[in-house]
Amino acid sequence: MWSAANRSAQEMIWMSVGEPLYRDLDRMQTAARGLIDAPDKKGALHLDPSYVPSPEIAEVDIHLQPGGYALDRGPDDIIAGVFYETGGNVFSFGQGAGKSDSKAGVIFKLLDAEFPEIKPLRILDLGCSAGAASAAYAANFPDADVHAVDIGAGMLRYAHARAEALGVGVTFHQMDASVLNFEDGFFDLVVSHNMLHEIGAEKRRLMMAEALRVTRPGGIVILQDVDTRMAPSIVHQVEKDWDTHFNGERFWNIYNNADLVADMYGAGFARSDVAEHDMAAVSGINRWYIISGRKPV
Ligand SMILES: C[S@@+](CC[C@H](N)C(=O)[O-])C[C@H]1O[C@@H](n2cnc3c(N)ncnc32)[C@H](O)[C@@H]1O
Repeated sequence: MWSAANRSAQEMIWMSVGEPLYRDLDRMQTAARGLIDAPDKKGALHLDPSYVPSPEIAEVDIHLQPGGYALDRGPDDIIAGVFYETGGNVFSFGQGAGKSDSKAGVIFKLLDAEFPEIKPLRILDLGCSAGAASAAYAANFPDADVHAVDIGAGMLRYAHARAEALGVGVTFHQMDASVLNFEDGFFDLVVSHNMLHEIGAEKRRLMMAEALRVTRPGGIVILQDVDTRMAPSIVHQVEKDWDTHFNGERFWNIYNNADLVADMYGAGFARSDVAEHDMAAVSGINRWYIISGRKPV
């Protein structure tokens, strides 16, 4: 009964946001195009037409989102981003609206508490989706050069238009987080939000190594995700399996069972510089799992 109700609730999210989305799509695409083409915009959008998302992402309606993350129906398409933001806001009860993002908000707290000396001037957000966290970093660190990468062109067009509409400058790139096209040591802070559970083990290890490579000596890598792996209750244990089998979350269990600390060592972080954190969301009842690592000086 619980599983059937859960599955139906998840399907209803996409039906409820999909109907108004498609009804209003022309207006939204025109508005997004206007923001993307604006001569005085604050950020930038770099799409890579040669990029072909891997089947593990492209062929899955992740958490039942129609078309998944890589959906791209043409040069003005923003559906993946609109779906992600509106569906996500139903799912999270509006915790990611506007320039505030509850996940990024937790990282601001962590930086204040554990890394107060880090005043980031170059920030990279990996797997940014609709750019909720990216916009929050740009708003919170107005002097910083904020970059964000994702694999989905439809996702990135929307993220870019969204950031411009909010008046914050973020440079968005269509790029795989496991093969970053940035020079060594470029960033003070590299983050990812809810991305570890979306990728397989090999990509995760490559992504950690890339995050370390593009971070400057003394800079910080902070990877945040769902808390199902932290002291899981019986409910968490059921949820772990359920999402893998019934919610299009192919890597959910792989994330839950991974030894992420060992992966960070394997990526090149020193043992003494890696830490795990279990933090309460800034609003709502969620807790977040976070793993951080400082690049050796
Ligand atoms: C759950 S969403 C995270 C959204 C966003 N960070 C947030 O917290 O709102 C995961 C995102 O990671 C992206 N992604 C998955 N694999 C990726 C990869 N190899 N490189 C870059 N982005 C990837 C997906 O396209 C998706 O937008």
